[in-house]
Amino acid sequence: MATTATRDTTESTAGLTTARAPFIEAARAHGELYVEQPYELYSVENHDAWRQLFARMSDRWQRYANPRFLEGVDTLCLDPNAVPRLEDVNKFMAPRTGFKAKPVSGYVPAFLFFDSLRKREFPTTITIRDADQLDYLPEPDIFHDIAGHVPMHTDPAFADALVRFGEAAQTAVEIVNGIKDPAEQVRRTTSIMKAMARFFWFTVEFGLMRAPGGDGVKAYGSGLLSSFGELQHSVESPLVQRYPIQMEWVINQYFEIDHYQPLLFIVESFEHLFEQVGVLEEWMKAGRLDNVSPGEPSLSDVDVRSFIDASA
Ligand SMILES: [Fe+2]
Repeated sequence: MATTATRDTTESTAGLTTARAPFIEAARAHGELYVEQPYELYSVENHDAWRQLFARMSDRWQRYANPRFLEGVDTLCLDPNAVPRLEDVNKFMAPRTGFKAKPVSGYVPAFLFFDSLRKREFPTTITIRDADQLDYLPEPDIFHDIAGHVPMHTDPAFADALVRFGEAAQTAVEIVNGIKDPAEQVRRTTSIMKAMARFFWFTVEFGLMRAPGGDGVKAYGSGLLSSFGELQHSVESPLVQRYPIQMEWVINQYFEIDHYQPLLFIVESFEHLFEQVGVLEEWMKAGRLDNVSPGEPSLSDVDVRSFIDASA
């Protein structure tokens, strides 16, 4: 859907900086979630932020990223000096796995996000962090989404695991649609979603993988791959607990987003990750996600309703 957000001279000079982009504010005011990427609005400072982020990550990716990610960065031909055009990224990605980055104006409700993965679409933030905030940003930006997530989407096994996760979200909708009592429906939906969000966090966002040859670990999670400090910390620091992924632990483990993760889980391969998504769905069907331990992440009403109101 093309946006009808108007552009004026203020917008063209303000750029597409996180939390202060008039183009995004206008799109949201019009209720437009899917937007175009108005490439001409990126300011010199925006491109410079991308250049700085990319330059300092390159060496760390070589040392700490899993090989499929490095191949993905090459495949996408990302420009180290300029914010990428999503249509260029898609030209290189779609022939590999069918995945496409789709620009959005902001937060995508949980079910819609997972269902996009099923359709091989990746809702993608188009704003970029301010150059004086290179180290940490609580919300996603285009560096996190394109340089952290999308290189993995060029790998067929990883892409299939994401699609499988989207299918598991459909299964969740079928299950919760069958619950008659409204209060129980909300309770179980919240629990299943919490389990799914935790699984997603500890794999797609912060996952580690056994390094080739079994020697140590490499990162494949986008939150690690887009963080200069945490990428090295996640692989090298003795303060991080690293354990083989274990479903009963992952779904019951709360997490906090605003500091380096103290606990990370290791998969053996993307085929292993794919298989684990299948286990998650089997547990869901068996009712084993119906009463997971409380705590983070907290879920908004919008997220919970996005599952309950989706038609199976
Ligand atoms: Fe992410």
